[in-house]
Amino acid sequence: MNSIVLSKKQFNDLKNMVYVTSGINLHEGKLELLKSKIAKRMRMTKKSFDQYLSYLHNNEREVIEFIDTVTTNHSFFFRENKSIEHIVNQFNNHPQKKSKEFKIWCAACSTGDEPYTIAIQLKALGLSFSIQATDISHSVLSTAIRGIYRNDKLRNVPRPLLHRFFQRGSGKFDGFIKVKKEVMQHVSFQKFNLITDTPVNEQYDAVLCRNVMIYFDHPTSEKVTNKLYNSIVPGGYFAIGNAESLMNLNHRFNSTPRVPSLYIK
Ligand SMILES: C[S@@+](CC[C@H](N)C(=O)[O-])C[C@H]1O[C@@H](n2cnc3c(N)ncnc32)[C@H](O)[C@@H]1O
Repeated sequence: MNSIVLSKKQFNDLKNMVYVTSGINLHEGKLELLKSKIAKRMRMTKKSFDQYLSYLHNNEREVIEFIDTVTTNHSFFFRENKSIEHIVNQFNNHPQKKSKEFKIWCAACSTGDEPYTIAIQLKALGLSFSIQATDISHSVLSTAIRGIYRNDKLRNVPRPLLHRFFQRGSGKFDGFIKVKKEVMQHVSFQKFNLITDTPVNEQYDAVLCRNVMIYFDHPTSEKVTNKLYNSIVPGGYFAIGNAESLMNLNHRFNSTPRVPSLYIK
């Protein structure tokens, strides 16, 4: 239990700030969660309630830390791999696969499980590739850059890939696994806010934006989808999460038969 009382106005102000900064739409059902997160951040920043609210209003980094606590960064290796497998197979059947470097952007990559999942599958096929992986949250990006995970996050990784591309920890790292350098070198991590940042002038063969639009409302999802459309080569892929849909959004992608969460430009 926490003793914080949030007035309707304070809740609406916070909701608005989170929405404007990240596109995340907090509904009233999140009130209790919000209160416990504020209490946690107050303890961590050693501030009173009023001090914390005004600090939050004047500090973008704190807003992002705060958003971090109200969203889920949940991810794991080989999550919803069907769309990734389809993209990897298509790359492997590409007529210029021997000379081409495939470029991929994992927007909202969380702790890195997703880009490394793609990297090991492409590497196993001997393809040449680079992955740009981005997220709004500084803390998930630092985990991704370290590349060290609890064993249970890798339980879906096929054995041969597990043995080839990861190192088991020992001593104080018992129970953890590290991604090998030869995989990590293909992936670069950077902070990117899907709402407020403009994509670099790069064209990708595939863009993944999975399990984040679920937090966005329709107009925001539509803007993000169209923003990412412009970063994909003609014929390139756009993957969303299995629980997400582009239905009812105005967009120019074509769907792929048999892989519902995968689209083609
Ligand atoms: C549930 S995780 C999804 C991770 C991965 N894509 C997957 O499917 O397993 C959602 C991620 O979206 C990020 N996120 C939320 N709002 C964002 C925004 N406006 N711009 C970029 N990333 C955002 C969160 O920080 C979080 O790491």
